[in-house]
Amino acid sequence: MTLELELQALAVDIAREAGALAALRQAEGVQVAATKSTSADIVTAADREVEQLIRARLAAARPDDGFLGEESGTGGGTSGITWIVDPIDGTVNYAKGFAHYAVSIAAVTGVPRINEWAALAAVIYQPRLDECFRAAKGHGAYLGDAKLSVSEEGAAGALVATGFGYDPATHAGDLEALGRVMKHARDIRRMGSAALDLANIAAGRLDVYFERGLHAWDMAAGFLLVEEAGGRTIARDLAADRPQFIATNVDHFERIVAALN
Ligand code: IPD
Repeated sequence: MTLELELQALAVDIAREAGALAALRQAEGVQVAATKSTSADIVTAADREVEQLIRARLAAARPDDGFLGEESGTGGGTSGITWIVDPIDGTVNYAKGFAHYAVSIAAVTGVPRINEWAALAAVIYQPRLDECFRAAKGHGAYLGDAKLSVSEEGAAGALVATGFGYDPATHAGDLEALGRVMKHARDIRRMGSAALDLANIAAGRLDVYFERGLHAWDMAAGFLLVEEAGGRTIARDLAADRPQFIATNVDHFERIVAALN
């Protein structure tokens, strides 16, 4: 088995265990533990508990690897591999009782900064639907046992997903950008989990996704899934406050990148 597939297998096991814990805690009742950048940007007790579980499992299995998590930050590593983890992507959905959230785990090599790492393996697990999206560099992307391919352009236009940051001051600009994309769209979705938006691009369910201001843990796994499913990705304006992220099928890529320039 290649290193990429070994890392993927480990991430699948851990994501499934973490997702089961998240779903259990949601059923018991979610408590908001704190707010972060704005009052809309929340962290729940379960986000922290699930991340601790993932971190402990990874440390036990691969003690020399580094870690970068949404809730607990960075930690060492000497192997050159870093795990980039969002324990619950779609935290607002999670806290509001929606089923649309996921555990996102990526293994990368190199400097763990956007556009600098090389992704090796990725898992996005949606516990409430028991959907496990996985990819390993050079080995394709899968949902369960089904190999994934991005969509092809259809006559109806693109089904577009996007997201808005937690700071209301940025919403007007994001809506203006959405307006420019709408001429390529059949409709839009704003479902509340960037990781699942990207997984659904890989699965061919969505055609176009774009958003400003993601963090590494929101997109590390999803970008590898899209790329391994034959799609295209770009992360740009990295020096800006809110870098821009685009992931699409092949047909729409140039048009959407141009529309968002
Ligand atoms: C958020 C979700 C949301 C996206 C935000 C992310 P979180 O992640 O992915 O869809 O619009 O930009 O921060 O806070 O739920 O982990």
